[in-house]
Amino acid sequence: MPNPPSETLLRQLAESLGPRGFSRAPEDLKPWLTDWRGRWHGRTAALLSPETPEQVQAIVTQCAAERVAIVPQGGNTSMVGGATPSAEGNSFLLSLRRMRRIREISASDNMLVAEAGLILADVHEAAEGIGRRFPLSLAAKGSATVGGLVSTNAGGTQVLRFGTMRALVLGLEAVLPDGSLYHGLSGLRKDNRGYDLRQMLIGAEGTLGIVTAASLRLVAAVGSRAVAWTGLASPDDALRLLRHLEGRLGDRVESFELIPSNALELVIAHIPGTRAPLAQAHAWHALVEVTAPAGEAGAEHSLAAALADSLDRNLAADATIAANEAQAQALWRLRESIAEAERKQGASLKHDIAVPVSAMPGFLVSARKAVEGLYPGCRIIAFGHLGDGNVHFNVQPPADACSESWLSRPGGDVSDLIYDLVTAAGGSISAEHGIGQMKADALARTADPALLFAQRAIKAALDPAGIMNPGKIFPG
Ligand code: MLT
Ligand code: ZN
Repeated sequence: MPNPPSETLLRQLAESLGPRGFSRAPEDLKPWLTDWRGRWHGRTAALLSPETPEQVQAIVTQCAAERVAIVPQGGNTSMVGGATPSAEGNSFLLSLRRMRRIREISASDNMLVAEAGLILADVHEAAEGIGRRFPLSLAAKGSATVGGLVSTNAGGTQVLRFGTMRALVLGLEAVLPDGSLYHGLSGLRKDNRGYDLRQMLIGAEGTLGIVTAASLRLVAAVGSRAVAWTGLASPDDALRLLRHLEGRLGDRVESFELIPSNALELVIAHIPGTRAPLAQAHAWHALVEVTAPAGEAGAEHSLAAALADSLDRNLAADATIAANEAQAQALWRLRESIAEAERKQGASLKHDIAVPVSAMPGFLVSARKAVEGLYPGCRIIAFGHLGDGNVHFNVQPPADACSESWLSRPGGDVSDLIYDLVTAAGGSISAEHGIGQMKADALARTADPALLFAQRAIKAALDPAGIMNPGKIFPG
């Protein structure tokens, strides 16, 4: 078990980090001790905000000597309580937000080296500045940071073509639990020197060390893009439509997001300035984005032709294509506001799950039936990244239920039922949000024993004192 920090350690850190880098003032701490959904609440011995990797290294070295725990935090947008300290208050909360420099950006290497606290939207802007793009995007792009995206192996809305962070991180710099600094930023496309520490740190949620910088892969800027909103009868139709569009347009299909009517209704009810894109109501919708490289025919032309053909074949009931960038952004706003609309609506149990893509339509039907059968009156909002086999299968309590009692049992009956169905379908209880503290028990209960053995052995070998983000991934 980690120890509380000694007075000497607190004094030394206050001196070495200065007033901007060390705080115990409740007003400084407060915003960072609760997660975005307001579900997890923690306490901390102090908020540490280093500015350099050497400062992170000095903090970790001192904490390792005293066996004091550290909870790393970026934009605090975790959906699974991954960046919230525990309630006992003995750990340090280490914010990477002051480390936000772009150390290097190279068009000839197609690479950007960013510090962990840089915000995703700033990565996008910097890449555009040199005629490139960083092809990972998600609703929280205005606050999610590079370190958090790496540590959760974030996915988002362009995984279909470009993969998750695992495919986009070319190198890492990180402080390991003993205080050593791993210099792995070179960004080699090929590097077979034994075990891949970079891939081990991606998705480790800060339990194996603290990511301080990452080399990110850039791709060519798009020549044009087109965004469409389609109305559909079922997820089955959605999958058929996706495969048809891919057949015609190949990997120009960059996003294919499934949206049920109740999610759209929620957005329109809670997010000012939004409205339904199609005149008729449809049970399901898909938002499609297609791009074209510079120098080739415009994306709008090819998407329009492919959608016309899809309508002829009854693969979609209706469709509209954004006529300009403002309309494209308005369509994306509908999709990206679902999580915010859910939050405004109130309590809900979130399940970020994956099953094989072909099994998803059937899973959506059988999981809904099972959950509604056991919990009549609950509302299921299942939306997301159909093309990746990943949906957010969220369950709101029945109107007459006490939401507190629902939420006081995270990983309780409803979640267990869903995770059992997911596991039976050969799926994953965490597709892109990580395990955090919310799913630690569920992972221990459902994961392959050989996987658990290897994960625990790696954790014990690299962090024998258990000081790195305790209580996350592994039950506390
Ligand atoms: C999304 O796809 O909108 C995000 O992963 C957020 C969520 O699951 O609510
Ligand atoms: Zn998502």
